[in-house]
Amino acid sequence: MEIFLNLIVRPAIEDDCKLIFEWANEPEVRNASFHSKKIEWSEHKNWFSEKLQNPDSIIYIFEVDGEAAGQIRFDKNGEFFEIDYSIDKKYRGNGFGNAIVRLGITNLKSQFKESIRVVARVKEGNLISAKVFQNIGFKETKLGNGDLQFVYE
Ligand SMILES: CC(C)(COP(=O)(O)OP(=O)(O)OC[C@H]1O[C@@H](n2cnc3c(N)ncnc32)[C@H](O)[C@@H]1OP(=O)(O)O)[C@@H](O)C(=O)NCCC(=O)NCCS
Repeated sequence: MEIFLNLIVRPAIEDDCKLIFEWANEPEVRNASFHSKKIEWSEHKNWFSEKLQNPDSIIYIFEVDGEAAGQIRFDKNGEFFEIDYSIDKKYRGNGFGNAIVRLGITNLKSQFKESIRVVARVKEGNLISAKVFQNIGFKETKLGNGDLQFVYE
């Protein structure tokens, strides 16, 4: 029997502030990040409201059958959008890493109505995230410090 799930991304709103805070402080997410220090609530609130107002920063919430299951953010930096993404711990291991990146890029393309370039940096040893970008067909480069850089254009 096949089970079909409804997978979508939608723009993040103010009400997602707490959820994104909790996801950001989940230990594996901090560990995968380039600033691994715990994030304080007051710091997060300011950061999040700035991001929502910034036209060069796009945050989508990934939903599985109507339930929030992850976030993907694209920050425009020069010619590239830089990716940050995570899946809620309880939803990991179901192929949703792949789904959130694909859906995120599709939505970004339709939002910007132009050809877009996307880059992701993956810390050395984060094999699961590296696999997501490899499977989608991003171009991979190993950086001098062992981290991986993935480009999609
Ligand atoms: C990275 C992340 C978003 C991936 O989502 P996920 O739901 O865990 O991963 P998926 O189920 O989509 O799996 C991706 C690949 O890794 C493999 N994989 C998943 N879990 C695995 C595990 N525990 N051990 C080994 N391989 C695993 C899958 O088989 C899949 O490869 P395949 O398509 O060739 O089979 C998620 O693990 C996460 O939020 N991690 C913490 C934050 C993070 O690392 N963000 C990325 C920063 S660059």
